[in-house]
Amino acid sequence: MPDRYDLPAHFRWGAATAAYQIEGAVEEDGRGPSVWDTFCARPGAVRDGHSGAVACDHYHRYTEDIALMRGLGLDGYRFSIAWPRVQPTGRGAVNPAGLAFYDRLVDALLEAGITPLPTLFHWDLPQGLEDTGGWLDRDTAHRFADYTALVTDRLGDRVPAWITLNEPFVHTVYGYALGIHAPGRTLMFEALPAAHHQLLAHGLAATVLHDRGLEVMLANNLTAVEPATASPADAAAADAYDTLHNRLFTDPVLLGRYPDLTGLGVPDDLYGAIRPGDTELIHTPGLDALGLNFYNPTRVAAPTAPGLPFDLVDIPDVPHTAFGWPVVPEALTRLLLTLRDRYGKALPPVTITENGCSLTETTDPDQPRIDFISAHLHALARAVAEGIDVRGYYTWSLLDNFEWAEGLHRQRFGLVHVDFTTQRRTPRASYAWYRDVIARHRGTR
Ligand code: FCB
Repeated sequence: MPDRYDLPAHFRWGAATAAYQIEGAVEEDGRGPSVWDTFCARPGAVRDGHSGAVACDHYHRYTEDIALMRGLGLDGYRFSIAWPRVQPTGRGAVNPAGLAFYDRLVDALLEAGITPLPTLFHWDLPQGLEDTGGWLDRDTAHRFADYTALVTDRLGDRVPAWITLNEPFVHTVYGYALGIHAPGRTLMFEALPAAHHQLLAHGLAATVLHDRGLEVMLANNLTAVEPATASPADAAAADAYDTLHNRLFTDPVLLGRYPDLTGLGVPDDLYGAIRPGDTELIHTPGLDALGLNFYNPTRVAAPTAPGLPFDLVDIPDVPHTAFGWPVVPEALTRLLLTLRDRYGKALPPVTITENGCSLTETTDPDQPRIDFISAHLHALARAVAEGIDVRGYYTWSLLDNFEWAEGLHRQRFGLVHVDFTTQRRTPRASYAWYRDVIARHRGTR
């Protein structure tokens, strides 16, 4: 497949990571515990009993990692800030030593000519906040706005654009509904107040960011939903799933209202979480760009058993990643066109904030990852040709890392292989390939 893509001249090339997945150093310089430290200690919660306690030791090796980014020629690097480093219990005074790490990181990135794109929350809530209810407690949204102010007071002079939250859908469903991720609650639909409080946190933080003249993004995991058959029952199930996965987390931000939740069978006020004025707080600050984390489409059928209003079914006859996720690049084009149809002028420019492929341990051959990224870049170029304003692409991930409940070894997403015993980094074939893609496109600017 040719590695030239019809993308705009200003298109930004990047790579993404997240704090708990790479930093390690969980007890250093005054960092407080996060829900992920607690969850990893729970027997059976994470594959092989792994945790992010050391992960890629990026806290100590960030200089080496920035050299790898520079070698790729990245325009931008998406990383996340660990809230419990900045405020060890999630409240009160700043921990200067923790914030100083991000200060060094930002300076080193700028020195390397790479624009930092921080995410303020990528799932590592301070345990102190979880102890008072976590995202089920409305007050956490206000604490997030305070934390946003502390961080941007320090870094806002050098960092122009900020992502508030990473994937509130996945955090709500995996963390609060199903218990697969931290904090490990199994509330099913009663987890949805956690969704609303995250969206409220986004809105309050967006106001803090805009007041400081900074750009605001939200990184949503969105999927192209397809009914398994043309039957009305499958269509209704697909619609319910689309509402839960996509619309619930995007409509309030872009349109200022929640979607119709009847098909999900949940109350309109999300179990009393939504108060008068909340949707304005979420919507009014606006979004400068929508971050889109895209991995795969989702095929949905009518439920075969009582409980949920949908069944998720596999998409056969396509390649699958090590995670078992179907590889259907054209679904990215379809999703972007759906977003345009759905939101029209309310759809801001889009940046792909995550997209990538997990393979098993081997460093080489790495061809399936190259094929995955290449095909998704073509799919993106097709959406651009249809008039969608796509500004950049941050591949997941720079490094192999701690893949949440899957632990360290199983799902390898990195352009760079990491040996978690020696911490040796070995660029894969996809690293050289991505470097060449970036160089070639830059040459045509
Ligand atoms: C996304 C997460 C990211 C990573 C990838 C594989 O849902 O945002 O941290 O785990 O999946």
